[in-house]
Amino acid sequence: MKRSTPTMAIALIMAAGAAFGQTAKDLPVVRYDGQQVVRVTHKTGEELARALELTESIWSERVGRGPVDLQMSAENVALLRAEGIEVEVLVDDLQADVEREQAEIAARQAARARGGDAVEYDNYYPFDDHVTFINQLVNERPDLASVSSIGQTLQGRDIWTVNATGPGDASDRPQVAINSMIHAREWITPPATAYLMESLIRGYDSDPRVRNLMDTVDWYITPIFNADGYVYAWSTERYWRKNRRNNGGGSFGVDLNRNFDVDWGGNGASNDPNSDVYHGPAPASEPETQVMVAFLSGLDDLRAHVDTHSYSQLVLHSPGTFAQSVPNEAELAAVAQEMSDAILETNGAFYTPQRGLDLYEAAGTFADWTTSGLSTFGFTIEARPDAGAGLNGFSPPASLILPTAQEIYQSYLVMAEVRTQPLRFVIDSSYYDDFEADESRQIVFSVLDALNTGSDNNVKVFARQGDSGSYTELSASPIGNDMYSATLDAGACDTTVEFYLQAMTSTGTTVDFPINGASAPIVADVTSDVVAYTDNSETDPGWSVSGNASDGQWERGVPDFGDRGDPATDADGSGQCWLTDNVAGNSDVDGGETILTGPALDAPAGSRVGYRYWYNDTSGGEINNDSFRVQVSVDGGAFNTVRTVTTASGSWRADELLEGVDFAATSDLRLRFIADDNDPQNVIEAGVDAIEIIVPGDCSNDCIADVNGDGLLSPTDFTAWINAFNSNAPECDQNNDGACTPADFTAWINNYNTGC
Ligand code: ARG
Ligand code: ZN
Repeated sequence: MKRSTPTMAIALIMAAGAAFGQTAKDLPVVRYDGQQVVRVTHKTGEELARALELTESIWSERVGRGPVDLQMSAENVALLRAEGIEVEVLVDDLQADVEREQAEIAARQAARARGGDAVEYDNYYPFDDHVTFINQLVNERPDLASVSSIGQTLQGRDIWTVNATGPGDASDRPQVAINSMIHAREWITPPATAYLMESLIRGYDSDPRVRNLMDTVDWYITPIFNADGYVYAWSTERYWRKNRRNNGGGSFGVDLNRNFDVDWGGNGASNDPNSDVYHGPAPASEPETQVMVAFLSGLDDLRAHVDTHSYSQLVLHSPGTFAQSVPNEAELAAVAQEMSDAILETNGAFYTPQRGLDLYEAAGTFADWTTSGLSTFGFTIEARPDAGAGLNGFSPPASLILPTAQEIYQSYLVMAEVRTQPLRFVIDSSYYDDFEADESRQIVFSVLDALNTGSDNNVKVFARQGDSGSYTELSASPIGNDMYSATLDAGACDTTVEFYLQAMTSTGTTVDFPINGASAPIVADVTSDVVAYTDNSETDPGWSVSGNASDGQWERGVPDFGDRGDPATDADGSGQCWLTDNVAGNSDVDGGETILTGPALDAPAGSRVGYRYWYNDTSGGEINNDSFRVQVSVDGGAFNTVRTVTTASGSWRADELLEGVDFAATSDLRLRFIADDNDPQNVIEAGVDAIEIIVPGDCSNDCIADVNGDGLLSPTDFTAWINAFNSNAPECDQNNDGACTPADFTAWINNYNTGC
């Protein structure tokens, strides 16, 4: 394999460009005049068949179940309507939308600060920028990464593949392969692999999780697999999908994701060369397929693979057709679930984990081939937006690039960990967000053995008070389902409690979490912060509702779950929350905004206002013309907008407003939550719950031996302790063992002598 330098890579691309004339100037650019993108909600198989007959190109990845997104001429859309088939227009004028996208890309490019990376996450970038970026990264850290051409496309472009792994001999490390851009129009996918490469290479020194995954895994990343298609989609035909094979008779392109030798030619692939899912003349007939097959077959211990597509927000696993049988289906499903969870946790976006065939059958796909042909774990990710967001799914706003790249990156990491690490620990950060001073703290975590090569033996927790000194071993009690609990001793105010988890594999290897154990533990801040105010929506402390929405005003209640984007439950489990129009069925916001304004609250210096919110959008119109906004007023006067949420999610999300950042200290803090639905109308559903104000405690006042709380240590505290003992009050517990016993007397003397 040859190693490239940036200049070589660029020279090669320019040569390829010149040889094949792939520039916008030279080639007639395919126009989309009179074309629309519509969502068809078919009620019968006949209706679906009729819609597919009239379509120019199938856009959505959900054909077969639920609505489908189709590119279609306006005349054919009218025909469908006349036949009584339910059609919703997503993109009214596709040519205008292509021009809109091109103008936006050019404007962002022009406004871009100089001196940045060749690829950033603020915009879409063409093939040569991606190649430049690859070389830039590899040249930054030749000790961690190299780039090679694993072979050429039909038109002679190199299929660049980055090998990233920690220093030292990598020959015994298991491999993970990730690619994007197999389908030319799925432009949000190369940023996901760019983000992966960048994070692995630039995060190696600072991020222990990355370092571990680099030191124990040999990564192969192919950002642009279908290079000919990607270049062609930029220069000539924006919504091109396949490679650039000349099939004869004026037809071009083989769908590389139907060309692999797994149930080749089966259901969901077409033998019509004009079809977008044309499987080609023979299994692996295409040079791109052959190059990838040869390359991956040469890896001796490939543990997992992701083929990254867009759009629909899915994590798909084998089998992709009923004709295949996949022995490890249950394990594949479990890993897909973990990948989906990791995505959800990143930015709140839900990607449905499911079998490929439960979406629709597709024979000859890349990921089915890695699963069956290479006996590994292959996945197909469909990136944002989701099928319900109601926009041009292949040309989403550039604001989606970064969150999409971040969340898919997390799923790559989790997949690699599950498939290569002997044990995995999962602990929710809410267990160590903040410790309260002088209170012991229970933590709960899981020790997972996804590879079935280890076992969760000898589970331990090591903890210390403060940031130096030795750790104390605590016992961890199994509580079922691979979960454990442990109780950490209290820490003093304004210090830290530090801890790490440990377990042993069946082969006797000890694994720590975080990976560097004692030298880089989990650090919990110990504060005396107090929750000074809570509103769990069970009562109404004085909210008012206003706004010009024609329907869907805020209401308080237990969610009347009817789907259409509603939450099924409130956020904090108390039962009630605030919701936009709390009835099942058509209950979303329409025709403007609905405003929920709260009562005056006390928010002193250093306080934080926590709240949970729901914002979902399940159909119609275009993204980003609707929003959920949070406003604050500190003086009974004007409201400032401090949050604008336009990313829909089918989950409750948490946020905090900070004094000094989002608002100034006041005794008259008013919160406002606004949900709006503008033209064209979407299904907008919003909710608010679990409002709390956290006020910083003053550690200097926090003195455990000062039992009567007068701020002084004096003999009167002895009497106060006796009283606390007799009445079993919390202040009795001086040794923080959670109980009030005579031993607390000695502890009080010690605390008293230690002073405050
Ligand atoms: N959107 C991809 C394609 O059509 C996904 C295929 C995934 N597999 C499946 N059986 N649905 O190429
Ligand atoms: Zn695709």
